[in-house]
Amino acid sequence: MCGIVGYVGYRDCAGVLMDALSKLEYRGYDSAGIAVFDKGEISVAKSKGRLADLAEKMEKTGKPEGNAGIGHTRWATHGEPSDINSHPHSGERVTIVHNGIIENYKVLKDFLVKEGRCFKSDTDTEVVAQLLDYYYDGDPIATIAKVTRELEGSYALGIVFADFPDTVFAIRCESPLIVGIGENESFIASDVPAILKYTRNYYLLEHDEIAVLSRYSTSIYDLHYNKLNKELKTADWDMDAAEKGGYEHFMLKEIFEQPTAIKTTITPRIVDGLPNLEECGITMEKLSSYKQIFVVACGTAMHAGVVGRYVIEKLARVPVNVEIASEFRYRDPIVSEGDLVIIISQSGETADSLAAMRLAKKLGAETLAIVNAKGSSIAREADMLIYTHAGPEIAVASTKAYMVQIAVMYLFAFEMALAKGMISEDECRRLTSLLQQTPDTIEKLLEHKETAQYIASSLINADSLLYIGRGLDYALSMEGSLKLKEISYIHSESYAAGELKHGTISLIHDGMPVIAVATQSALFDKTISNIKEVKARGAKVVIVCRDSYNPDTDVADHKFGLPDEVEDLLMPMAAVVPLQLIAYYTSVLRGNDVDKPRNLAKSVTVE
Ligand code: M6R
Repeated sequence: MCGIVGYVGYRDCAGVLMDALSKLEYRGYDSAGIAVFDKGEISVAKSKGRLADLAEKMEKTGKPEGNAGIGHTRWATHGEPSDINSHPHSGERVTIVHNGIIENYKVLKDFLVKEGRCFKSDTDTEVVAQLLDYYYDGDPIATIAKVTRELEGSYALGIVFADFPDTVFAIRCESPLIVGIGENESFIASDVPAILKYTRNYYLLEHDEIAVLSRYSTSIYDLHYNKLNKELKTADWDMDAAEKGGYEHFMLKEIFEQPTAIKTTITPRIVDGLPNLEECGITMEKLSSYKQIFVVACGTAMHAGVVGRYVIEKLARVPVNVEIASEFRYRDPIVSEGDLVIIISQSGETADSLAAMRLAKKLGAETLAIVNAKGSSIAREADMLIYTHAGPEIAVASTKAYMVQIAVMYLFAFEMALAKGMISEDECRRLTSLLQQTPDTIEKLLEHKETAQYIASSLINADSLLYIGRGLDYALSMEGSLKLKEISYIHSESYAAGELKHGTISLIHDGMPVIAVATQSALFDKTISNIKEVKARGAKVVIVCRDSYNPDTDVADHKFGLPDEVEDLLMPMAAVVPLQLIAYYTSVLRGNDVDKPRNLAKSVTVE
């Protein structure tokens, strides 16, 4: 979704804003713009398209020169992507950038039109700019406080007032915003990577806090003008984490970072060979008490929940419901005290997941968040919190975040099974040690990336394909299919292999690719029978299976082998790697923008 940046200091502001915005490109956008105090006047440059289009435009028309300003990448919600609808938006004396959605913008716009105001764009954001202008009485903080009391919805705003040169104001409600603090300079940004080149110190702006940035001082106030003393945080990511580091795409880099991400995530949570989640607020006593678990999330994070369900139910024998957050929140779910609701989210800002968590709390359940982004809304509001330590995930297609989410689900399941007395301490130790071996397994698998590349070359002209599997392999198929469709733009569905005969098999035609995941020994023969059924109807089958299985020609055309020594239960951690690589190379070979697929945003902060 939209990205916001702001800068006040001694550097070339336009350069800093463009650089910082480039670090937020991963969020997804279709236009960009900046506003800079140029010799005391606010000068705006904006353009539909990529940052490169904006840069090209500024080369022709002249780049605003100055040391303070705001910038924005827009992911269109109200009004098509166009120069006019791009941010910043201005009233007479106020210019703003906005991330979020103003739900009551229509009412506010009607009011302003009646008051004689004219609008240039179709955006909800321009309403905020005009409203600030309408109420502006020379006191920016009082005006911002007054206006935000009238706004319904979500917003992070970067604001400049013509009367206050070289000063940037900011406020947030729901949408994330940080305030970076450097030496004689300060920043606002939607996410930490935007400021890492300049500083690692930042404040997390809370709801309805107003930041005032000037070159030599930065202050944060509440809506009643009280100055707040906030804790200065230090980002534990370095610059390299937000750079491609020699890889062609962030997605490939992130796939290769998975072994390290697993180690960093699980090692601190293993004590004396056993999982220990106490520092996250999860005690053995609590684990033994839950009778029912809900896992609520969106997209890939939800798929991690599906793996979690298989593992928790198998080991701990506790029923687990996995739910899409946007459905859960509106279906009046039967959740109550004594239930545990686990929210999984890379960004920690996904609007539906956040709302689902708030609902679960309201219904009396305990909430556990499994989140990657430090200090995000979901992380802050959950009763218990397990941070995944994957580092920044920049590619829109989630890979390493999924990997560490499932690693955490394993640890959780092992400890819960122990707490419930369903497995012995020795068995728990054994399983934990298997989990600790997965980074090495993945390292070795990554050496076979060419096999995935070769398989991808057989898929690039497909119109549609199917992913099939049973049990944990079905969980994996869901993720493989999502990964492929979101970055290759090839239509794809995942199906439980046993369900095909109930309708979907009629789609199979000569040459249609089917990717079959068949790693689960107990289900293997049954899956092979289902594969033969599609093969007999002309499908071109790619099988992801154990190394030792050599498929006949009536089963598969291509194989990606996985190490035989990996136990069935842990197979998802290995099997997802070829699925990620196949999706990646298919996208590359089709010439797509792998890291920033069309229409998608990294952090989905709207419903
Ligand atoms: O930040 P979250 O984990 O809450 O995001 C959830 C989904 O939007 C996300 O996983 C999405 O499906 C990815 N594009 C998948 O690669």
